[in-house]
Amino acid sequence: MNYNSDCQNTNGSPNELDTLISLPITSDKIKTLLTATGDLQEALFSKARSIRREAKIDYCLFRGVIEVSNYCQKKCSYCAMHAGNKSIHRYRMNAQEIVDVAQTIFDSGISVIFIQSGQDPKIDPILEEAIPAIKEKFGCSILLCIGEKKPEVYQRLYSLGADSFILKFETSDPVLYENTTQSDHGRRMQCLDDLRTIGYKIGVGNIIGLENQTLDSIVKDIELSLALDPNFVSSSPFIPNQGTLLEHLPYGDFNLTLNCMAIYRILMPTCMVPTVSALEKIQKGGQLMGLNAGANVMTINFTPPSYREKYSIYSKKRFIVSLDHAIKTAEDANLSAVLNR
Ligand code: 5AD
Repeated sequence: MNYNSDCQNTNGSPNELDTLISLPITSDKIKTLLTATGDLQEALFSKARSIRREAKIDYCLFRGVIEVSNYCQKKCSYCAMHAGNKSIHRYRMNAQEIVDVAQTIFDSGISVIFIQSGQDPKIDPILEEAIPAIKEKFGCSILLCIGEKKPEVYQRLYSLGADSFILKFETSDPVLYENTTQSDHGRRMQCLDDLRTIGYKIGVGNIIGLENQTLDSIVKDIELSLALDPNFVSSSPFIPNQGTLLEHLPYGDFNLTLNCMAIYRILMPTCMVPTVSALEKIQKGGQLMGLNAGANVMTINFTPPSYREKYSIYSKKRFIVSLDHAIKTAEDANLSAVLNR
């Protein structure tokens, strides 16, 4: 869709920015910020950077991801790992393999081990073995992104050493969510509630460019993120993925995604905001543009290559973030790379 068509003011003056970000933050103001172009967009990004500085964030946080299983119970129409896809080869790492990769991440100087998986119940007992081993060996922070589980499972993994959890709401619109994922939005929100009650730091976020998504709906994504008061918040452009119902759609709007990230930074100054690899997939230098729009986190891929190519999130040819790329990108954004080597 053309997101600009339902908003009259798409290119206001930079002076307008202060008015737009002054309280109360109304839906109309967010809409104008989301569709900012030209000078107003420049002012938006510059404000996001100065707010980041004022929040004492002058660094880019690196986390090393291990994609531990591509089995998935869900049927998200944007993801090739959906349960119904018989044409991809499924894998599940064992605990020793996971700890070995964690060692490589730790040896690279990265102190956040990020464990990501399709929603796979059979990975739970494996993580119950791997998490305490990682915690004991490296004492580092353990971030999970493994989908919807019963509170008992979340509780066990937390007690064993996991401390943060990303469960993006994808879209704040329950009907759009249900049409896109064939699953219940209320259940996802309940999981977020459970995670917070247990004590996890939580990460949420949206996808920009889903079928039938409107600009009003993205405004509500921002409002929902604010209400959830998360520790991390992300925005990712939709990437058409082969072998999915949405493979015919175009990429999500790049500028709308950057604007959304900048708004997240301005409205939630101390939040961790990642610049996702999908931005680099759409445009070379895209992740640097994300940092320049206020982000401060990069995820570096440490999944063993033989598994990595089967983890067909985003697209078959996704952009794989290396440590070198991340360091260079952070430096180019004048942020220090947090490595404890
Ligand atoms: N486009 C954009 N985001 C995607 N994700 C998965 N597939 C895609 C895609 N094709 C994101 C979802 C999910 C996270 C792990 O990756 O937001 O929560």
